Amino acid sequence: MNTNFLRACKGEAVDHTPIWIMRQAGRYLPQYHDVRGKGTFLELCKNPERAAEVTIQPIDFLDVDAAILFSDILVTPEAMGMHLVFEEKRGPILPEPIRTKADVDKLIVPDPVDKLGYVMDTIRLLRKELEGRVPLIGFCGAPFTLATYMVEGGSSKNYFNTKNMMYSAPALYGAMMDKVTECCISYLQAQVEAGAQALQVFDSWAGVLAPCDFAEFALPYVKRIIDALKPFGVPLIYFANNGATLLDQSMTCGADVLGLDWRINIEDAVKIVGPDIALQGNLDPIALFLPEDKLEKRIARILDGAKGAKGHIFNLGHGIIPETDPAKAKFVVETVHRLSKR
Ligand code: CP3
Repeated sequence: MNTNFLRACKGEAVDHTPIWIMRQAGRYLPQYHDVRGKGTFLELCKNPERAAEVTIQPIDFLDVDAAILFSDILVTPEAMGMHLVFEEKRGPILPEPIRTKADVDKLIVPDPVDKLGYVMDTIRLLRKELEGRVPLIGFCGAPFTLATYMVEGGSSKNYFNTKNMMYSAPALYGAMMDKVTECCISYLQAQVEAGAQALQVFDSWAGVLAPCDFAEFALPYVKRIIDALKPFGVPLIYFANNGATLLDQSMTCGADVLGLDWRINIEDAVKIVGPDIALQGNLDPIALFLPEDKLEKRIARILDGAKGAKGHIFNLGHGIIPETDPAKAKFVVETVHRLSKR
């Protein structure tokens, strides 16, 4: 197996800097549209054969060093009993958002094998079909990010209802977060048992929180997840999007790897986190629209800036966008491999 990704997570020697790309399976790939066809996104997530097929597409096409399970962070709120729909061009909608004690009481902490068995089936199938080519990353949403969707009922601009619940009903917020956290823990444990070889916790909206609120209302739940998963021995990655100003706190969560968005120079992140944590990132997804010579300079700068880190996994600072030319994504992978060859 190409173990460069797993070795970089642990700070061990690598043949080249490994790379994978957030949202590497998705709408920028014509072959994704072929498989997605006329069915819905959630139908694709719940069909292990097709979900495995789109997971492997970027391994074949891009030659990335890790596969990430094709699924979505919002399958957990659905498994907790919430209604979830993905509307074309509008994104996720949860039509009955959590606002009251009765809403929180109604949430179940599901047995992941029972309610999310299709994810475990996909993971088992993937381990077979990948035949050890690259490691498989499992994931979940971080409790705060999941809570924003559950309380707002979809994507949000000001996160008013979520923050209002934190401030005016902290016990209610805490009760909801306890359930979400418990769900994340058992879900990730089941993923490892099914064959996931690393785990990433996506905190996509952590960056909307003031540092004091991140400390009180988001980070403790992430720590609980990391603590519970540590004994399983797989590398744990925590990605707080827009989290440069939270890095001094994130570095205490216990993760082996911290994911970085592009808003911080990676050498500055190395200065903050020190020599004991590996870093992942952090090219601006829109940099893939630069001409190749300028793009290559950006890549070289990141590889160079990461040299003091315990380990480095190259990635974008957030998901690749649908307008991206697949050939440019391939160029990034080739360039990272070529420039970092040991
Ligand atoms: O990285 C990968 O390739 C694995 C697959 C993956 C998806 N979603 C597929 C997806 C992962 C890891 C996610 C996580 C996810 N989902 C996050 C955290 C990461 C991040 O981007 O910050 C979030 C916030 C979501 C919620 C979500 N899912 C939104 C807001 C949307 C709509 C916006 C959009 O990009 O369409 C989705 C849909 C989604 N998730 C798609 C894919 C491939 C597009 C579905 C389609 O129309 O075919």
